[in-house]
Amino acid sequence: MKIAVLPGDGIGTEIVAEAIRVLDALDLSFEMETALVGGAAYEAHGHPLPEATLKLAKEADAVLFGAVGDWKYDKLERPLRPEQAILGLRKNLGLFANFRPAICYEQLVGASSLKPELIAGLDILIIRELTGDIYFGQPRGRRTAVDGHFPGAEEAFDTMRYSRPEVERIARVAFEAARKRSKRVTSVDKANVLETFQFWKDIVTEVHKDYPDIELDHMYVDNAAMQLVKAPKKFDVIVTGNMFGDILSDEAAMLTGSIGMLPSASLNSSNQGLYEPSHGSAPDIAGKGVANPLATILSAAMMLRFSLNQAEAADRIESAVKHVLASGLRTGDIWSEGTKRVGTREMGDAVVAAITKKTITG
Ligand code: IPM
Ligand code: MG
Repeated sequence: MKIAVLPGDGIGTEIVAEAIRVLDALDLSFEMETALVGGAAYEAHGHPLPEATLKLAKEADAVLFGAVGDWKYDKLERPLRPEQAILGLRKNLGLFANFRPAICYEQLVGASSLKPELIAGLDILIIRELTGDIYFGQPRGRRTAVDGHFPGAEEAFDTMRYSRPEVERIARVAFEAARKRSKRVTSVDKANVLETFQFWKDIVTEVHKDYPDIELDHMYVDNAAMQLVKAPKKFDVIVTGNMFGDILSDEAAMLTGSIGMLPSASLNSSNQGLYEPSHGSAPDIAGKGVANPLATILSAAMMLRFSLNQAEAADRIESAVKHVLASGLRTGDIWSEGTKRVGTREMGDAVVAAITKKTITG
């Protein structure tokens, strides 16, 4: 089994280092190879996703990814910006199914900006289509308008589009995932305005005929955004397109109060996957040793379960994380009165210790 390790930028290197120590502690035999990605790759090779990095990712069974991006690259032309690396990996590896769980950990209920009763026990799975929609739709660009409100003016445009097979396959992923949970899927669209999403809604409804045991409902994206803060526990599996999924998954992650805890997986049709924390590169705290490594450590667990066929090892990591939280250790992002504040390394140490069953301090 081969893992491509792509730490990236900002806190990426620190948090991935801890996930690797946790993987090492499992005593399984993986081959791990590290490569540069994002701004770090741009600095070294002039491109955020160098050929060698892409080749490594393609050949691996799974990619463990940290985070990319830094404000200092905002002025670069678009193809050279760090974010292009993640988009390029999604596209080149065909990683169309993005799993973004939003779970509220019992011990962290107080860290949410919502009232505890609204989010205690929250467990939502957002399934975001990841290789289509306005993110990748062609044509896109800039030109002189020939029509619209200001003919002759400069304009920019992107294309929202979905093909039938793209919607069918993500709908199936969502129904299958719901089967292993509480058997409810909410498909989020904007069918009242957009042709693309009327098409989406029609196809999800058709595919649903193969899953009579699953309850399906449809919701407009604006309403979904509202319901997520009003009554988030009403949701189980949410399936939606790339753009809406980008927005709603940040909203859902934040309302758990534990964005530093949330892993994610992006899979292709052969279960090859890219695993990354749901949070970003946090350049403001990079290099300070204070970032929360748990989302990345839990992403490594998802990797073991989904791509490497090591469910038992995944369980060991997840139990270790729960144990560490129960013992009261917290990085700054999830710290509250009465708990012990620790840094990135100490948090990693504690998870490793829980895995190898040594005493945990604190
Ligand atoms: C995400 C991020 C990316 C996206 C960016 C970094 C390209 O926001 O994974 O949600 O928009 O998909
Ligand atoms: Mg996003």
